[in-house]
Amino acid sequence: MTTERRKLIIDTDTASDDAVALLMALRDPSVEVIAITVVAGNVPLPQAVQNALYTVEFAGSTVPVYAGCAAPLTQKLHTAEVVHGQDGMGDIGLPIGGRTPAPGHAVDVLAELIEAHEPGELTLVTLGPLTNIGILLSRHPEYATRLREVVIMGGTGDGVGNITAAAEFNIWVDPEAAAILYQAGTKLTQVGWDISRKYATFTKEQADQVRRVGRLGKFAMDIQARVNEFALTGTKLVGFDLPDPIAMAVALDPSVATDMPFLNVVIELHGEHTRGATVVDHSGYTGRERNTHVVLEASRDRFVEMLERLLAD
Ligand code: RIB
Ligand code: CA
Repeated sequence: MTTERRKLIIDTDTASDDAVALLMALRDPSVEVIAITVVAGNVPLPQAVQNALYTVEFAGSTVPVYAGCAAPLTQKLHTAEVVHGQDGMGDIGLPIGGRTPAPGHAVDVLAELIEAHEPGELTLVTLGPLTNIGILLSRHPEYATRLREVVIMGGTGDGVGNITAAAEFNIWVDPEAAAILYQAGTKLTQVGWDISRKYATFTKEQADQVRRVGRLGKFAMDIQARVNEFALTGTKLVGFDLPDPIAMAVALDPSVATDMPFLNVVIELHGEHTRGATVVDHSGYTGRERNTHVVLEASRDRFVEMLERLLAD
């Protein structure tokens, strides 16, 4: 009996952690990545597109990459070169640039692909701000239930932000787009920055262990050069963290998530200090309808085993 490969679309603001998540999906034999759509976030759209194209080529893949939205729905773009480097890929001198994305705007391609597949056939994994997805679902609300599920790297399960005290970067860059997704009625799984901070940090020794699995492992760790510096001065974690890869790990194997209650999550749009926060109703006392599978705990061992296995070559 052949086990059907799940079909994935990945939406990304390709920088150093996104690139590792892309490699994981491209190397996992249990899934077929049918498209990569790019959105502005970590870096401006043109750079994110080039980073995605470089990563796909480095992986020896021909999966098409489509350019999407260059700015959030209602506010100006805030990028994160301070975290990922000017090129978003650690500023280690990679020959990035000069590659051509597939024709068509990402939002139009997402619609075409959803129309061309049966309901429940496509899984969407989002690794960046949700601008492309917000526009898609505002144009076609019915797509929310045509998708098998949406797994997002975004928000926080514990209210501890990484760009403000309360907000995580992907949601904070485009809260209006995030609100559209969280209200859309799709099967939504949230892997927040709390999960990255608690289960996906890498000390030098742990990074060297990944580096040793081969060419892809070395690339995956080398491009974290700027994030590593930022961790020492900014987030003050024990090492750099890999939010998109652990979110991708949950998408590839949900058993990586060891506690994932179904809760109500709303996006704060107006708070002076809390705009962009994912407000998680852990107790259920608000009575709001539950809409999100919120990962609250994960297995670092399962994540690292998957990361090293998929990057080994
Ligand atoms: O907050 C972390 C998220 O913001 C990650 O997806 C990172 O790549 C940035 O997009
Ligand atoms: Ca990202």
